Amino acid sequence: MTTRAMDRIADVRAACDASRREHQRVGFVPTMGAFHAGHRSLMRVARDDCDLVVVSLFVNPTQFGPNEDLSAYPRDPDGDAAVVAAEGADILFVPSVEEMYPEPGRTTVHVSGLTDRLCGTRRPGHFDGVTTVVAKLFSIIGPCRAYFGRKDAQQLAVVRRMTSDLDLPVEVVGCPLVREPDGLAMSSRNAYLTDAERSAATVLSRALRDVAECVRHGERTADTVRRVLVEAVASEPLVELDYAEVVDSSSLEPLEELRGEVLVAVAANVGQARLIDNCAIAIAPDGDVDVDLGVVNETRA
Ligand code: PAJ
Repeated sequence: MTTRAMDRIADVRAACDASRREHQRVGFVPTMGAFHAGHRSLMRVARDDCDLVVVSLFVNPTQFGPNEDLSAYPRDPDGDAAVVAAEGADILFVPSVEEMYPEPGRTTVHVSGLTDRLCGTRRPGHFDGVTTVVAKLFSIIGPCRAYFGRKDAQQLAVVRRMTSDLDLPVEVVGCPLVREPDGLAMSSRNAYLTDAERSAATVLSRALRDVAECVRHGERTADTVRRVLVEAVASEPLVELDYAEVVDSSSLEPLEELRGEVLVAVAANVGQARLIDNCAIAIAPDGDVDVDLGVVNETRA
């Protein structure tokens, strides 16, 4: 089975329609390219679950702020096409900006509340760009299931909320955060790091491991957990902490006390790169603690 590359909305829509008419399950992995093992893991889950797998590659300009890295964003169209083929996806949808936005859109999908915190306050308009393009892509592809990484935990929460508020007929599947063997969360933006920054950046995952450890030992006060994070990150002069937050995983409301499904999220500037990382902690009513720090990629992408 070879991967078909498509750059027209009408073509990918027709292919997905035909597949659904045959009662096939359409799986969708939206991306901005520069693939690493995190992206590949989503493609694999989609391949295992679905009959027709569509990967979109679109560096969406509307989710970048005026001073952000749109023009520098890493691009590797040939390498990406080879990855999608190796992962056995059926369709690689690579629309141009003109195809997606033939004229400036007047319609924005805005999820309120969840986008006013964490990355939302630092990147005004970012999540509107994400939800609007994801809604467009859902409308074009009509997936039964769409796969998102828990690396971008806020994005996942926002997309889930949009999907449920708008009754979109798609199941949003959250997939594990994939890390480098030294703990660094995989990201296309890691390409911006120098060797020294790259090694300093591992402090984020080490700090999250420290947090996990202290929660396992019974710590439940959000302020204390935040302090553990802040102090650990402060030990690395090349890493400038943007935020360290302890919030409810679904509402993203700040917590005073850790209970239920908790998201511990950090963002930091390291050289030219803005990096994010997180861990999910589930605290059962009986006090049982389940920490999800993601998985380590052992293979070379
Ligand atoms: P992009 O950053 O390319 O990410 C595409 C998908 O890969 C997202 O669901 C993201 O969470 C997931 N991903 C990235 N790094 C990961 C990692 N280390 N482990 C697991 N999953 C990882 O996110 C976007 O693109 C865009 O905002 C998009 C949703 C495509 C809308 O433009």
